Amino acid sequence: MAAVAPTPGSITLRSMTAADVAVVLELERELFPHDAWPESFFYDELAQAEPALAAERATRRYWVAEATQPQGRGVIVGYAGMMCVLPLADVQTIAVAPAAQGRGLGTRLLAEIEAEAVRRGAEDLLLEVREDNPAAQRLYLRVGFEQIHKRRAYYPDGGDALIMRKHLADPKPSTAANLMGAP
Ligand SMILES: CC(C)(COP(=O)(O)OP(=O)(O)OC[C@H]1O[C@@H](n2cnc3c(N)ncnc32)[C@H](O)[C@@H]1OP(=O)(O)O)[C@@H](O)C(=O)NCCC(=O)NCCS
Repeated sequence: MAAVAPTPGSITLRSMTAADVAVVLELERELFPHDAWPESFFYDELAQAEPALAAERATRRYWVAEATQPQGRGVIVGYAGMMCVLPLADVQTIAVAPAAQGRGLGTRLLAEIEAEAVRRGAEDLLLEVREDNPAAQRLYLRVGFEQIHKRRAYYPDGGDALIMRKHLADPKPSTAANLMGAP
């Protein structure tokens, strides 16, 4: 599966479903050797996401990136998830198969998360990243995240986490008009 090296144009993003979890889990274990999510995490998250829940009740949104093979078969080469409980949104996870890395897919998945967070009205988008993961940090810095905290020994193997934030929108100004409930 990870031997696929698709061109960015041949990859489509769609909502992750429970049927994708087995393949996603293989990638998860390969890409996060120190702190892979257990299978149950994915099912728990998807239970709080569309389409399991109606859009207005879903606090999560998960995507898979699927590369179309010449035979027409789709192969999952990346995935990402977001939580949004206003006023904040969080990058829950983001991952790209090794053979598909360095071609803009991570940037595209992150842009999808950000667009969804903006659509839902989030003011800030937050994430955690291992301090010893410079590739991911470069991606986040490049698209406008800044480090706001460090959590020591956050990960099960004792690794530190950097907390990063991207400000998405200015809070609505409290003008005299909206304080008085004017339309
Ligand atoms: C972090 C991760 C998601 C990035 O995914 P990616 O698809 O490689 O990301 P991109 O291709 O968008 O960006 C990576 C680099 O490729 C470069 N790139 C993007 N499109 C490119 C293209 N068409 N041609 C050449 N290089 C390109 C980017 O400029 C970027 O360079 P940088 O090193 O200066 O940041 C991926 O490395 C990954 O899954 N890592 C393991 C899991 C992980 O750590 N997840 C993050 C947890 S916080």
